[in-house]
Amino acid sequence: MSKLRIAVQKSGRLNEDSMGILKDIGISIDNGKDQLKASARNFPVEVFYLRNGDIPQYLKDGVVDAAIIGENVLIEKGEGINIVEKLGFSTCRVCIAVPKSAKYSSIQDLEGKRIATSYPNTVQMYLDKNNVKANLHIINGSVEIAPNIGLADAIVDIVSSGSTLFKNNLKEVDTILKSEAVLAVSPVLSEEKQAILDKIQFRMQSVLKGRQ
Ligand code: PRP
Ligand code: MG
Repeated sequence: MSKLRIAVQKSGRLNEDSMGILKDIGISIDNGKDQLKASARNFPVEVFYLRNGDIPQYLKDGVVDAAIIGENVLIEKGEGINIVEKLGFSTCRVCIAVPKSAKYSSIQDLEGKRIATSYPNTVQMYLDKNNVKANLHIINGSVEIAPNIGLADAIVDIVSSGSTLFKNNLKEVDTILKSEAVLAVSPVLSEEKQAILDKIQFRMQSVLKGRQ
């Protein structure tokens, strides 16, 4: 019998909550934390621990069948991938932030400026929508450092508690989108795997109801 391959974030904030919901729906994973793949003991499921940014491509290629992932990552590079369930945890927002001392009254103030981000497509869409031209610098982590080292005038990154912005002397000035964890599915899924997914989704719905 084939197993449903579910991707979760390898490490980071989403990882813990993702493993939490799998546990709550009764899927117990033998977790060697260093392993990149683990099988469930009592369900035809394999869990793959992957980098967030790699998950959309794995879904598109059908290398994994489903994923628990931040909606923001799918908005950035998940075209064609279906979201079947919003999971209500790991909420965050994708925000524009500038140095505390900088003046910002609207997105127009970023015309011609340098913006550092890990979400270039999301930022570009927002700039286009507002008819603003800016220069994007793509950075894959610790984006908040960019203004302090003179690399950018503004950043766009995910904000949760706001503590990273605060520590880096930045202020949040605009929200591009809000995000939460979702259950996403590969566009190429066999019928057999669809049946396993349906069971998982049904159990998740019950757990989410109970959490309300
Ligand atoms: C994420 C994100 C922000 C921060 C937001 O970074 O990129 O920097 O968390 O959370 P906060 O508002 O609660 O401070 P993460 O720590 O995951 O590391 P990375 O940017 O290096 O990937
Ligand atoms: Mg960060």
